[in-house]
Amino acid sequence: MTTPAHPADSTVWTRKHLLGLEDLSAEEIIAILDTAESFAEVSTRSRKKVPALQGRIVFNLFFENSTRTRTSFSLAAKRLSADTQDFSASTSSLSKGESFIDTARNIEAMGADVLVVRHPTPGTPHLLAQHVGCSIINAGDGAHEHPTQALLDLMTIRRAKGRIDGLTVGLLGDISHSRVARSNIHALTKLGAQVILCGPPTLVPRGWERFGCEVAYQLDDVLPRCDVVNVLRIQFERQQLGLFPSVAEYSQFYMMTQERVRLGKSDLLLLAPGPINRGVELTPEVADGVNSAILDQVTNGLAVRMAVLYLLSGRVEPGPRDGRDGRARQ
Ligand code: NCD
Repeated sequence: MTTPAHPADSTVWTRKHLLGLEDLSAEEIIAILDTAESFAEVSTRSRKKVPALQGRIVFNLFFENSTRTRTSFSLAAKRLSADTQDFSASTSSLSKGESFIDTARNIEAMGADVLVVRHPTPGTPHLLAQHVGCSIINAGDGAHEHPTQALLDLMTIRRAKGRIDGLTVGLLGDISHSRVARSNIHALTKLGAQVILCGPPTLVPRGWERFGCEVAYQLDDVLPRCDVVNVLRIQFERQQLGLFPSVAEYSQFYMMTQERVRLGKSDLLLLAPGPINRGVELTPEVADGVNSAILDQVTNGLAVRMAVLYLLSGRVEPGPRDGRDGRARQ
């Protein structure tokens, strides 16, 4: 069984880490999406495995709950024939006072090639990248960035619409606390989409027009213009109290219902990163309806994570273990 050919094997991708999409060029983002397309084919085979990361170790360090992202990274690494290991923060020596960086260095000393990191504090993956020699992938740092989620959103849009350039994409709901929104804004605007941020004024940060986005508070006014709407979860765990009067009131104005879907274009594409709260951000009929690509996103997420793991770790031989400063790639 062979590894598929990768468009990005050319020269575009030279990075060591994936910390966010803010710093990536449009070409680099497209290189990941194109590589993901070639890996999507692997998942359709009866034997869903290629040897690209044979002998590599991928470590999952998750300091926040996760269903999709952690499993998706584990499976992606396994499909590339890497060894994978999950780190459980609650049962680790962090509870005995060991620092986060010391913990990561110990994991690196066991031979990890890639650390996949999710942490509630923004900037944690960036800090780790300065202290360990292996590749770091940001799997979500607080409300800052969640690059692989945005990449799988983009892959799903590109597959459904055939392009990203020129589309109008609405990001709906709790923009302020959403790392998915930030990563989507960076990627979509670089690839030429028009982004509309829509939600209650208390959940849309002031001044984000400077990122090249339009801001709207009335969903029903902007829906007819949208080709895609990405329905974001209300991040109750990151909110102070009182940002809107009640869940019922939020749902009345911003929940995606069948009536609202009918306000949009007939081929309106609905995304949601999950977890979805049926009856809060979208109704069950909409979540399971013909416009919804929510489960396609999950499938595409696997291909995107295979592509990222491959680009960071599958094409070059790892440097010396003590080579924290000795490796040229960023
Ligand atoms: C998102 C996350 O964790 O930021 N979910 C995900 O990765 N599938 C969005 C969310 O939690 O609402």
